[in-house]
Amino acid sequence: MLPKSDSKPTPLEQICTKLAESLKQGTFARLVLSAPVASGDIPQKILGRFIMLKGVPHLSLTLRHATRDVTKNLPLVEGAAWVREQLDRQFHSALLCTTARDWQFISNTAGEARLIDHQPSAKKAPPREHDQRHGGILDAAARDWLQGLDVLDVTGKVRVSMADKHRQINHYLEILSHLAKECGWIGTPRAEAGRQKAEDGEQKSAFDPAPLVLADMGCGKGYLTFGIWHLFHRVRKQPMRIIGVETRADLVATTNKLAQQIGAEGLEFVAGTIESTQLPRVDALIALHACNTATDDAIRRGIELGAKLIVVAPCCHKELRPQFGKPPPLAPVLHHGVMEERMAEWVTDGLRALFLEWAGYRTKVMEFVVGEHTPKNLMIAAVREREAFTDAAARKRIEELKAFFGVEKHALDPLLVAADVRRL
Ligand SMILES: C[S@@+](CC[C@H](N)C(=O)[O-])C[C@H]1O[C@@H](n2cnc3c(N)ncnc32)[C@H](O)[C@@H]1O
Repeated sequence: MLPKSDSKPTPLEQICTKLAESLKQGTFARLVLSAPVASGDIPQKILGRFIMLKGVPHLSLTLRHATRDVTKNLPLVEGAAWVREQLDRQFHSALLCTTARDWQFISNTAGEARLIDHQPSAKKAPPREHDQRHGGILDAAARDWLQGLDVLDVTGKVRVSMADKHRQINHYLEILSHLAKECGWIGTPRAEAGRQKAEDGEQKSAFDPAPLVLADMGCGKGYLTFGIWHLFHRVRKQPMRIIGVETRADLVATTNKLAQQIGAEGLEFVAGTIESTQLPRVDALIALHACNTATDDAIRRGIELGAKLIVVAPCCHKELRPQFGKPPPLAPVLHHGVMEERMAEWVTDGLRALFLEWAGYRTKVMEFVVGEHTPKNLMIAAVREREAFTDAAARKRIEELKAFFGVEKHALDPLLVAADVRRL
């Protein structure tokens, strides 16, 4: 057993604990650091507020210099650590206001410090400002389905456990709206005219552009399917239809029920497989984290269904690794399992991009949620620009890469077979 320590936390430790607790418990009202240890071009005061940035709680710190303000937004744990450092080195005084108590920390140049508490000056925590102002595409109108999917709680706040998901959906929709611009679905005079018409409540006419048709393959609980519907139907006010395809009938029943509850016109979910569900021609096909070769099936279906835009974010990769040769001079590196696994992912996704180029698409491979380095963080976005299966150089690139790594079989190989290509 460890010996009992009778050392009391210092006033600095105490105020830092109070700060961390109040941020965690939602009782935080405001923070002011004052009495800097030095003058000159350093902040003379720091004001702290609790804000939400893209659904994630942050401590927003305004560094008040003599002639300018600088703002720093830090996630809560990082923010609390940064404040501690400031109080340790740069400031003699802090006032922490919470809805439970106010706490005043005072120190002097001799290193003595004390903490005094007062009645709370704030009865309730101020609103988390950025929530409304910078909600991104997931604005207040998205509350019904985000609550239905348990991303928001009953008060409309992002659940702590769902903050990453909320950020992922928002970020994905931002990427998608840029891609939709590239495809001419947003921002063109025609798209804007259609949007204006819908906004003015004008009747549809025979001359209206056909609705945009999208498919979300392996849609699971439908986070993105609802998100994409929200982006085009509610935010862009564009005539559209989106179909979520999912093998699990229970999930399909739940998502269809929610779509019905919120009156989501143009949104539907069907039970079936990516490989074989009957679908109309689509403008865009997406698949987020469809397992193993289900991502390839989604790519193949997208090409087959005439999609102008295909966006996939692959999940696990199992097909290529067992086939991998170890070309010198990579052999000594691929001898390490983790390196071989990463190389297998790299080759699988690299080949997917090359297959899409062979099918007439311009491809981009990017990290999808900035700063999250997980194997599930890669996105392949492809916009169709050329005639499919005619560029011999594109085909050769696939064959050479496969040969280099000793890959005999890739799920997209049927695209290389003339008979299959003609069928597409
Ligand atoms: C990892 S989850 C991703 C769900 C969703 N796309 C998302 O990112 O929130 C994969 C989903 O795809 C479904 N799925 C896997 N293989 C499938 C297939 N061949 N056809 C249709 N759905 C499939 C699974 O049931 C699961 O719900």
